[in-house]
This record gives sequence, structure tokens and C-alpha cells, in this order.
Amino acid sequence: MQPILDIPILEDDLDAPRTAGAESAGRRLVFLETYGCQMNVSDSEIVASVLQSAGYGLTHDERAADVVLLNTCAIRDNAEQKVRRRLEELRARKRRHRPDLTLGVLGCMAERLRHKLLEEEQLVDLVVGPDAYRDIARLLDETSDSGQAAVNVLLSREETYADIQPVRYDTNGVSAFVSIMRGCDNMCAFCVVPFTRGRERSRPVDSIVAECTELAAMGYREVTLLGQNVNSYRFTDAGTSVDFAELVYRVSLVSPELRVRYSTSHPKDCSDALLHVHRERPNVCNYIHLPVQHGNSDVLERMRRTYGREEYLALVERARSIVPGLSLSTDIIAGFCGETEDEHRDTLSLMETVRYDHAYMFAYSERPDTYAARKYVDDVPEDVKKRRLTEIIELQTRISLETNRVDVGGVHDVLVEGFSRRSETQVAGRTDTNKMVVFDRGSWRPGDMARVRITGCTSATLFGEAVEAA
Ligand code: SAH
Ligand code: SF4
Ligand code: F3S
Repeated sequence: MQPILDIPILEDDLDAPRTAGAESAGRRLVFLETYGCQMNVSDSEIVASVLQSAGYGLTHDERAADVVLLNTCAIRDNAEQKVRRRLEELRARKRRHRPDLTLGVLGCMAERLRHKLLEEEQLVDLVVGPDAYRDIARLLDETSDSGQAAVNVLLSREETYADIQPVRYDTNGVSAFVSIMRGCDNMCAFCVVPFTRGRERSRPVDSIVAECTELAAMGYREVTLLGQNVNSYRFTDAGTSVDFAELVYRVSLVSPELRVRYSTSHPKDCSDALLHVHRERPNVCNYIHLPVQHGNSDVLERMRRTYGREEYLALVERARSIVPGLSLSTDIIAGFCGETEDEHRDTLSLMETVRYDHAYMFAYSERPDTYAARKYVDDVPEDVKKRRLTEIIELQTRISLETNRVDVGGVHDVLVEGFSRRSETQVAGRTDTNKMVVFDRGSWRPGDMARVRITGCTSATLFGEAVEAA
């Protein structure tokens, strides 16, 4: 069972030796490597589309590529370090074996690091920011004609790439990302995203619904609507305005066979209208990623999150009362500026109160230009940050195990995504509540909806046996 590739990544692209034929056909091959969040994965699909329309081929084999593009993330220092190490490695290969190789940096590191990447370190030939992907083929021509680096890192107030049909570069053929808005205006004190991706803007409703309709027709069974703060989505046209709750509702009408998820939502914008869409529409998943960041109101204020602990807890209670069985996940930062031991314990107690099904947990990493970098001191020592993060992770692992155990014995509808990572005799898929379930392959194929009885679990995975087709 292979992942279904719906895109013309030609078989001969995959291992194409660097032949004169390919050169003379003028078809240069591009290898795209994506770091960071789902938005970057979705953006790589836009880049793949723009390049393909300009006559480039796509390859999954780095050695066959004429152009290697890294779509980068700047959210924490270690994300940037990873990309820098990779660039040095590629740079060394270029120097030794492939002087004609073009190296490019796209995405969130582009703006801030363009001078360093181009001048001080001379690492790359191409730097393209997240709003300049329409320009990428021209920039590639420019660098190959002039032998000089080419750059476009301008941020836009309008660009949503609404008319570009993404090329699903790394697809499983079952579930797809659909970008609905870009940028972020929230300016959380710790966060670099407003600087790397610019102002918030929403994509026209019709283009989103059209893309989801096409995905359903192609056999996709799940869409995740993407943005930095999806629930602040608002598109206004000719006097009528559509908000996020209305958008999710409209997407849910595309097909009863198409599951709808979204990521990421901000607690301040999680409306009752949206919660009612979760309740009323069976194909809108019973799951919300609702990043809290911290459990103490003073820290939340320093973080400029615009809600306090009690407000957040009230929202969780309201969400669970409107949407029975709702599963929740979150993001948490340990060791933010000025965090005391008591404030840290408030994060642990909030986690005990909410009992998230899943969490993404990070040690605070100061980012240049942010409000926190300008106004506060990054004063929690590294070893204390690490210890607090470990406590948070250990607590969440216990809670995830306990919430998973509650599922054992129950029956869930599972959308099969592909093989289990461990064994080709098993398949893996997700429940409506976003939990990964592994069960025997039988004759199940990606895209099937199986009804599965849960027989066991770890903190990360449920195990089960298929009962019948859902
Ligand atoms: N737009 C999303 C988050 C995008 S970044 C939202 O608002 O929820 C994903 C997560 O990275 C954030 O939720 C936060 O927990 C974490 N993060 C962001 N900046 C960080 C920093 N400077 N140090 C550590 N973690 C950070
Ligand atoms: Fe960053 Fe806050 Fe915007 Fe999320 S909402 S992207 S954390 S500024
Ligand atoms: Fe990273 Fe940019 Fe996403 S900084 S987390 S890739 S928006």
C-alpha cells in the first residue's frame, strides 16, 4: 500500500541521474525540505505549484536535485540552529561535488537572516520570504543568470495565494492542509511569527470552499484549515462578512465524507457559535487545539495573551458543556521571563484541572525583536527551565496515558492514513478526537473509515481491532 500521490511528480524524477537530456529539456529538478509548523508544509505545496507551472520538476531525491530549497522555521533558537547546520552541510557538498547546485532559504528565517545568510556567511544563492513565493521562478532565473544571490523578503498585506492550486508534495492522499489565513496581529510577547509572516489577512471564502470541494472529489477524506490564528478569520466582500464559525460550517457542507479540522486557534477568539458548529456538524471533529501557554495570570499578562487563568478555565468548561466528549490539546512554555517557582506550579495545576489529551511543550527561547526581548530579561537559568519543562512533560505523559485508558473498551471511527510506523502488517489512523490508533492491516486501505474497538494504549497511541467499516 503506497501513499497515493495525486501530483505529477514523475517517476523518472525520483531517481533521475543528472543527464544531459534533462538539462537540454530545460527541466531543472527541485528538492524541497520543510521545517516548522503545518503552515510551512502548506506553503511548500504553494512553492511546488509555482515551480511546476514555471517548468521545474520536483524530486524526492536530494542527490538528483539541481535546486535545494529549505523552508525554514524561526520559532525557537534550536529550530534556526538545525537549519544552519543543514545549510553548512549542503554548502560543503556544493563546494566539493556540485558547484552548479542552487541553494535557497525560504520561510520564516528569510527576513531576519538575509544579511547574515548572504553576506557574512555566504551560505545561499536565494532567499525568499513567505509572501514572495510567486516570484520564486524569476528569482531562480536571476541567480543562475547573474551568479549573484537573489532576494525577495517583502511582506504583503494582501497575499493569500488564493488562486494557486497547491501541489501536494508529501501527501498521504487522505488528509490535506488548506491555508485560510496568513500572518498574525496578536503580538504575543515571546513570539517571532508576526515579524516573520507579517500582518493578518484572510483568504476569500469561495476559494477555500472550492479547494475543499476539489479535494473531496479527488478522494481526500479530511481537511485541516490552517492559519496562525484561524478563529480570527474574517472575510468581507460587498458588505457581507464571514467569520470563522460560518466558514467551518460552510466547509462542513462540502461533503459528509470530508472530516474538518483546524489549527491553530487562539482562546480569545473561540466563540460559542464555533462551539455550536462542532456540536451540530458530525464531520467537524470533536477536537480543538487551544494553546494556553501558561497557567498563571500574571505570566499570561506578561506574555500579552489577553486572557487570564480563570477566563481560560471558564472557556474550557463552556466548550466541554457545549461539545460533549471534546478532546483538547495545548501548547505550554516553561521558563518565560520572570517565572517564579509558584508561577510554574500554576501551570502544573492548570494541566491537572484541564486534563489535556495532548500537549506540545517548550522551554522559552528568546527571539530577537519581540516585545519580551526588548522589555524583559530572560532570567530563568537554563537548568531551571529544563527542570520545569521536564516536570511539565512528565505530568502530561501521565495525564495522556490516563485519558487514553478511558478510551480502552470503547469503539471509535478511525480514518486510515497509511501503514503504522513500526510495522507494515498494521495500519494507523486517527479518531475524530485526533488520537492515533494502530490496528491490523487486514484489507484496510488509506482513506477507509474503520470502526475500531480499542484494546490497549500507551500515552501516545491507542491499539485496537477493526470491527467493521464505519
Ligand atoms: N499561532 C499559534 C502558535 C504558533 S507557534 C498560537 O498562537 O497558538 C507554536 C507554539 O510555539 C506556540 O504556541 C508557543 O507555545 C511556542 N513558542 C512560540 N514562541 C516561542 C518561544 N519564543 N519560545 C518557546 N516557545 C515558543
Ligand atoms: Fe505567535 Fe501569538 Fe500570533 Fe500565535 S497568536 S502566532 S503565539 S503572536
Ligand atoms: Fe516556525 Fe514560521 Fe511556523 S516560525 S512555527 S514555520 S510560522
